[in-house]
Amino acid sequence: MKTITVHASQTYPIWIENGILSQCGELLREQVKAETAAVITDDTVDQLYGKQVTDSLEQSGFRVVKFVFPHGEASKCSKTLNAIYDFLCENAITRTDCLVALGGGVVGDITGFAAATFLRGLPYLQIPTTLLAQVDSSVGGKTAIDLPGGKNLVGAFKQPVAVLCDPDTLRTLPSETLADGMGEVIKYGMIRDEKLFALLEQYNLETIHEVIGTVIANCIDIKRQVVEHDEFDTGERMILNFGHTLAHAIESYYHYETYTHGSAVAAGMCMMAEKTCAPEIYKRLCDCVTAYQLPTTVLAPMGELVPLCGKDKKRASRDLRYIVCEEIGNAQIRSMPFAEFSAWMGGTTA
Ligand SMILES: NC(=O)c1ccc[n+]([C@@H]2O[C@H](COP(=O)([O-])OP(=O)(O)OC[C@H]3O[C@@H](n4cnc5c(N)ncnc54)[C@H](O)[C@@H]3O)[C@@H](O)[C@H]2O)c1
Ligand SMILES: [Zn+2]
Repeated sequence: MKTITVHASQTYPIWIENGILSQCGELLREQVKAETAAVITDDTVDQLYGKQVTDSLEQSGFRVVKFVFPHGEASKCSKTLNAIYDFLCENAITRTDCLVALGGGVVGDITGFAAATFLRGLPYLQIPTTLLAQVDSSVGGKTAIDLPGGKNLVGAFKQPVAVLCDPDTLRTLPSETLADGMGEVIKYGMIRDEKLFALLEQYNLETIHEVIGTVIANCIDIKRQVVEHDEFDTGERMILNFGHTLAHAIESYYHYETYTHGSAVAAGMCMMAEKTCAPEIYKRLCDCVTAYQLPTTVLAPMGELVPLCGKDKKRASRDLRYIVCEEIGNAQIRSMPFAEFSAWMGGTTA
């Protein structure tokens, strides 16, 4: 079993191994004294993996209770959160018990936020079952729910007691959801790791399963390094946003319907690389993105996308900060007044 240890405000292990899901009980037992494990999951993941997780937890002596909500981003809201709080009350969950987030980023984010806030905080285990959740959302301690006014507007930093990553669970993912996670994986190669990028270039969406464990471990280790330097997102953590300035604009322009987050990131990276990279690097990135069935551009005109780049509610100043990778494996944070950025990208000046 591969273990990566994260040294943030709390130190915790990330375990990565095929088939490890059926050992979640004994592994969690080493981390917590909890009597009860409250499993939070969505309906799709529950059908696939709920029983295996419950059986393993019970075998290790946990009393198991389970809360299941409908899959999808729409569930990452205050209504589901309140239902989770009620469920935890009804089952007399105490501060020494433990929540278990079994699922993708939606389950991880809302369970993490419940763990940060219920009884002013209790331990939680992340069991990410999408590629995006394994390489991104389960690591780093950001938790959140959406509001009608925008995504991830209410949240907290709350590190889990451990993260359990079983690459075998990715075999049941629809190929579009796997591709979505590959958008973030390619991003890690671009910002920090030319060797990882070169490995990705040798595979495609069908064959990547052969090396997915190695790929996941590499990505997690990059996120670990970045998070250890900047846990509370005041500086370096921003390099994880490569491709995201345009991606957020693309997702918003198409009302979060046409492009998944990962596919918008893929297009956003390529569109930024076209402006900032040598042609051969731009071509390598586009070829890699295409091999994972992701888009290299979108039809929306730049003039309509660029104004949406300034709409990020978490933007700290009038300047727009964005990430460029002039070489593969090397990201830099840049900053420009918004009007200048707009003219440079080919949008209209604001
Ligand atoms: N906290 C962070 O740092 C962070 C980072 C990136 C993204 N996020 C959040 O993550 C969320 C997106 O995560 P996601 O893409 O995992 O979405 P998701 O949780 O909605 O999962 C996608 C779909 O896959 C299904 N699924 C999950 N595991 C499966 C499996 N093994 N087999 C078959 N189907 C499976 C789910 O039921 C769901 O329908 C967003 O809400 C985003 O804001 C958070
Ligand atoms: Zn992202």
